[in-house]
Amino acid sequence: MRAIVISGCCRADQLQVSDIPIPQVKPGWVLVKIYAAGLNHSESLLRTHEADNDYINTPIVPGIECVGEIADASDSQFGVGNRVIALMGGMGRSFNGSYAEYALLPEKNVFKVSTHLNWLALAAVPETYFTAFGSLTEGLLIQAGDVLLVRGATSTVGQAAIQLGKALGATVIAAARRESSFAELQSIGADHCIVDDGRISKTTSPIRPNKVLELIGPKTLRDSLLTVTHPGYVCQTGLLGNVFTVPQFDAIKYIPNGVFLTGFFSNFPTQAIMDRLFEVIEQKRISPLYKRVFTLDQIVEAHTLLEKGGAGGKIILKIH
Ligand SMILES: NC(=O)c1ccc[n+]([C@@H]2O[C@H](COP(=O)([O-])OP(=O)(O)OC[C@H]3O[C@@H](n4cnc5c(N)ncnc54)[C@H](OP(=O)(O)O)[C@@H]3O)[C@@H](O)[C@H]2O)c1
Repeated sequence: MRAIVISGCCRADQLQVSDIPIPQVKPGWVLVKIYAAGLNHSESLLRTHEADNDYINTPIVPGIECVGEIADASDSQFGVGNRVIALMGGMGRSFNGSYAEYALLPEKNVFKVSTHLNWLALAAVPETYFTAFGSLTEGLLIQAGDVLLVRGATSTVGQAAIQLGKALGATVIAAARRESSFAELQSIGADHCIVDDGRISKTTSPIRPNKVLELIGPKTLRDSLLTVTHPGYVCQTGLLGNVFTVPQFDAIKYIPNGVFLTGFFSNFPTQAIMDRLFEVIEQKRISPLYKRVFTLDQIVEAHTLLEKGGAGGKIILKIH
């Protein structure tokens, strides 16, 4: 089969298509014929910084998510031809991932889906929409009538959170670095847009959120905790600000009284939460957002764009 394989850290222009055997199934693992795969910032980090570390099982096929059909169900509850999505759990890091025509994946990271979406739109969903949906539903216990502030709203997770937040009945405030992003954020569904100067708690906006999806991370986290009404919820999901931890975290002094701080990690998807996500996508006729589509032969162009962060939304690899 055709696949992208990396043996260590490399430049985007060193990526190329290789011919490797289609993997053989084993108990607990299923073979997925991949139709399309979303690209993620983490694969750029893998290629530029992580691939030389012992915890990456090189040579490896990158790719942490995909959509496709079961080609061999092995001993699983799946049937051949089932339409599935798959993500995380070590995919593209501990075992071969989705930059390939087929992937052998642990049954627990593969989920059946019933949807009207075509392969490309479906490929925008697994990691991005699961992260946004999990953050909103498990991290923020989102309910109709909430006022949700999405910080880092121009990111792909941010855009998905705007769509899903609206679908779940919230009023959505989108915070972005530049006013020039506002028109696009409103076209996705944002009710209000604000420029994020890192001090949103100091603004005198008449609408205060009771829920914040924090995608910038520890750089603005304290400001988010000071921004919400009481009771209020802040879910720490993203790290766009490139600050990864809160130094000398003292929960008593850091988290204001009456505010709930939660986190969300996309490493633990389940069929139950995927079913709820697709129920919302289907009922509200959400069109998952993606910006660019490339083939395996165009991997250099795709990864160059991914590394530069210039797509302004999800990049998809069309494989079959
Ligand atoms: N917790 C989890 O399990 C999980 C899962 C998936 C993703 N994530 C994290 O969630 C975040 C979003 O991921 P993504 O894949 O959606 O990112 P992405 O699409 O690559 O987002 C990039 C965009 O974010 C905006 N941005 C970058 N730095 C910013 C900053 N300091 N302040 C405001 N906006 C900034 C930029 O848009 P503009 O140039 O238009 O401002 C940039 O184009 C990332 O930190 C990612 O690591 C976490």
